[in-house]
Amino acid sequence: ESVDVVVLGAGPAGLTLGNVLIDAGIDCVILERTSRRQVQTRTRAGFLAENTVRILERHGLADGLRRRGREHSRCEFRTEDGRFALDYAGLGRGERHTVYPQQELVSDLLACFLAAGGRIRFETEASAVLDADTDRPRVLVRDRDGRPDRWRARYVAGCDGRHGAARNSLPPGAVRRHHSDHGLSWLGLLAEAPPSMPAVAYAVHGRGFAGHMARTAEVTRYYVQCERGTSAESWSEDRIWDELALRMRTADYGPLNQGRVIQRGIVDLESDVLEPLRHGSLFLAGDAASLLSPSAAKGANLAVLEAEILGQALIADLLRGDSAGLERYSDQCLSVIWRAQEFSHWMIRLLHDVPGPDSSFQHALRRSRLASLRTSRSRQNWFAENYVGV
Ligand code: APR
Repeated sequence: ESVDVVVLGAGPAGLTLGNVLIDAGIDCVILERTSRRQVQTRTRAGFLAENTVRILERHGLADGLRRRGREHSRCEFRTEDGRFALDYAGLGRGERHTVYPQQELVSDLLACFLAAGGRIRFETEASAVLDADTDRPRVLVRDRDGRPDRWRARYVAGCDGRHGAARNSLPPGAVRRHHSDHGLSWLGLLAEAPPSMPAVAYAVHGRGFAGHMARTAEVTRYYVQCERGTSAESWSEDRIWDELALRMRTADYGPLNQGRVIQRGIVDLESDVLEPLRHGSLFLAGDAASLLSPSAAKGANLAVLEAEILGQALIADLLRGDSAGLERYSDQCLSVIWRAQEFSHWMIRLLHDVPGPDSSFQHALRRSRLASLRTSRSRQNWFAENYVGV
């Protein structure tokens, strides 16, 4: 079959892009490897920046998050030098987060796409993008019965994440990958427990980092830094709550609401950026374009922003023959991506003692970084602007 745009992947990037395109009457299809149920139940980041909400609103995609999302504007740090909070709605550009679980956002985006007549194929895995250096690229797929099939398009949008077909189809040398492995790992947990404070709390401790992220009234996300290579199952629930209590310094600041751990997984802190974000007729957006360590919750926000920029550029090209936006796409996104990368890198060094031969020096720098965030108004404004912004 033939369409104007084949979108690979039904995550926040692919579904936002699909909605932007269908809004303008562009003929497109979304191909998604997993089932509808898997797409709608995958729990990931939930912190949306104001700019993200504005983009979604512009396309009529924000009703659910306006109704059920919760505003957040405070984060707290617990360290060896005491505790402090930043009310970031009163700092920087004065913006807040909307906390809205990603599976709900994805469900809303999918419902809107289908209601607008959008076509999506679930359980259809793209295996390769061919002829991306021509203006008739093809996407090879396997459908749900394992049968091979193909789609022809004018453009392909690779929104299929870090292990997707878009990345894997780039010929060697066409696109450069800048990569950093921070050598750190987190055990990420979802606990069936109400949040213990109306804020994100970051704990910096000699035993490692711990984080508390309010999610909904019933469920809270926690992170516990662990050794690289640890399996998520090797941590008993008792050990998890003991470590959280120690690192979050509950003896000083009060207990955490405990509950059953309903989901767990290891996150290795790694970042990468592809450059450029285009190879001929194939464009990259979301995790396919750049991976961010989760320290600053930027992934979904960048995915939505890139989808909007790419969507407008594709519309201008396909409806008006104006390709300037597509020419600019990569540079425009890369400048935003690198700013987000720089900030999350700074956050990693704010929250962890990075191992290495100069570890005592790094440890002292880390304490000083926290001290300047605690005491300097201009540093706090800079933090707020970057923490909520994309
Ligand atoms: N063919 C079709 N679909 C694929 C393929 C493939 N070969 N490979 C992966 N996919 C699908 C995945 O099943 C997934 O649904 O692509 C989708 C990619 O979605 P995400 O991983 O959510 O990536 P993205 O939309 O870029 O969102 C990025 O959102 O999840 C948050 O913070 C997280 O940084 C992340 C951000």
